[in-house]
Amino acid sequence: MAETQTLATVEDTIALGALLGAQLRAGDVVVLSGPLGAGKTVLAKGIAQALDVDGPVTSPTFVLAREHRPRRPGTPAMIHVDLYRLLDESGLDLLAELDSLDLDTELDDAVVVVEWGEGLAERLSERHLDIRLERGAESETRTATWRWYAP
Ligand SMILES: Nc1ncnc2c1ncn2[C@@H]1O[C@H](COP(=O)(O)OP(=O)(O)OP(=O)(O)O)[C@@H](O)[C@H]1O
Ligand SMILES: [Mg+2]
Repeated sequence: MAETQTLATVEDTIALGALLGAQLRAGDVVVLSGPLGAGKTVLAKGIAQALDVDGPVTSPTFVLAREHRPRRPGTPAMIHVDLYRLLDESGLDLLAELDSLDLDTELDDAVVVVEWGEGLAERLSERHLDIRLERGAESETRTATWRWYAP
């Protein structure tokens, strides 16, 4: 069942990220979709806040992925991925791409947050949260629609 919320300000979007982030656990994947500037990275900041991982969360556009370590031992890291630059690559193997980065954290020990991940990142985990952000033409207001998938 999809849920939806109107986000009038950046703070609202961070708060939604924090609310959803508090429900995530190691091994979960978050698939963030929506157009350029929709607020995917802002939402990822809220998720990072709830997970209590090191910041800052900035757009990983030029690096594929950034790793954010947990501040408290034993809690999941956050791996923040941006697939925008790879959207045109047909047959992209996301798992192989992530493997090739030699991250310090196993994907199973992290929450993996993927911008522009629609259609690719869902395959990383049976447990995933899809969040779509939309923006109107005139206002700063965003609309988030999200849905949990779990076996
Ligand atoms: N209600 C809102 N929620 C989120 N961001 C907002 C809101 N209102 C205005 N903004 C602004 O919109 C921009 C959202 O940028 P952000 O980098 O999060 O988008 P994005 O979806 O990650 O884009 P990209 O696809 O380029 O990675 C920020 O500059 C933010 O300040
Ligand atoms: Mg972004």
